Amino acid sequence: MKTVLITGGCGFIGSHLTLFLKKKNFNVIVIDNLIIGKKKLFKGDKFFKIDITNKVKLEKVFRENKIFAIYHLAGLSKLTESFKKKRLYEKNNVQGTKNIIQLTKKYKIKYLIFSSSASVYGKKREFPINEKSSLNPISYYGKTKLLSEKLIKHECKKKKIKSICLRYFNVVGSNFKNKIGEIHNPPIHLIPILIRNIILNKPINIRLNFNTKDKSGIRDYIDVNDMARAHYLCLKKLIKIKKNFLVINLGSKKYFSVKEIFQIIHKKIKIKKIKIVFSKKLKGEPDKLVASGTLAKKILGWRPKVKIQNSISNMILWEKYKLKNKRKFVN
Ligand SMILES: NC(=O)c1ccc[n+]([C@@H]2O[C@H](COP(=O)([O-])OP(=O)(O)OC[C@H]3O[C@@H](n4cnc5c(N)ncnc54)[C@H](O)[C@@H]3O)[C@@H](O)[C@H]2O)c1
Repeated sequence: MKTVLITGGCGFIGSHLTLFLKKKNFNVIVIDNLIIGKKKLFKGDKFFKIDITNKVKLEKVFRENKIFAIYHLAGLSKLTESFKKKRLYEKNNVQGTKNIIQLTKKYKIKYLIFSSSASVYGKKREFPINEKSSLNPISYYGKTKLLSEKLIKHECKKKKIKSICLRYFNVVGSNFKNKIGEIHNPPIHLIPILIRNIILNKPINIRLNFNTKDKSGIRDYIDVNDMARAHYLCLKKLIKIKKNFLVINLGSKKYFSVKEIFQIIHKKIKIKKIKIVFSKKLKGEPDKLVASGTLAKKILGWRPKVKIQNSISNMILWEKYKLKNKRKFVN
């Protein structure tokens, strides 16, 4: 049984990935400082409450466990916060990644899969965005992801490690059956915010003045369970291929505007009176983000299966569950 390490494994995507890899018979070690993550979402074999910026504690895990591959997901990811707390984001996302790279090399671990983001692309005029599109992150968060990718690429060039950097578009969904899902409190992503406000009968905010048909932002949504499968396929591929470094978009190429997403949710939660407040888009928000999934299909043989309607149904169940069981989500 091979051992994989997942950093950020008590977070939204990390918990789904842990569960998926357990089903594929991996021994899963999770590192998470629980700044966002919840112990309740831990689904692996061993858990270490460690901050990846603490290299001494981090190294102990590498020394004491024979790790076959690493999935590096730990990171801070609030766009607006990243402008205000640049030093924190630099330390957490870039220095944290440096530590992971250095220990990966030192302990001769060959495979590193990194959670990057579509935010490395910045504003684009042509769609869908493929991996060769120019990189021009608008947010500081996006910059930390791009810097991390560059650090990894540099090591791969020296043939010390093999890596795939996955540029995620907007990740949605939950595995309600296993009680895992998004845990940011208050929620930071569009769909959980809309669902929660509708359930709680609070006004919802739709940001307009985007350069799109209905003036609301357009995004490419991808289900977290599809994502977990893609991560597994990445490791299988890395073991086989000669290339040391790859970047792959994970998106669905199907896109929805915020107003369309609101309509889907509204149909599912039948509340008649909803107060909608309109505001302006935030700094660092691109008008449209739509991925090309050609490379993911070619290299991984992967394409998304879950429909947005199903992802949203699961998210509604999950948000209702979280609201009812607030105490369960205290670490
Ligand atoms: N959710 C998305 O739509 C999306 C899109 C693009 C990229 N990403 C990236 O994917 C990764 C996972 O995202 P997520 O949605 O699961 O986020 P999340 O916040 O739910 O999970 C991140 C986890 O990392 C942990 N963490 C953060 N800093 C840490 C540190 N210094 N040491 C140890 N643990 C730390 C947090 O406690 C949390 O459990 C992140 O790096 C994020 O930037 C996510």
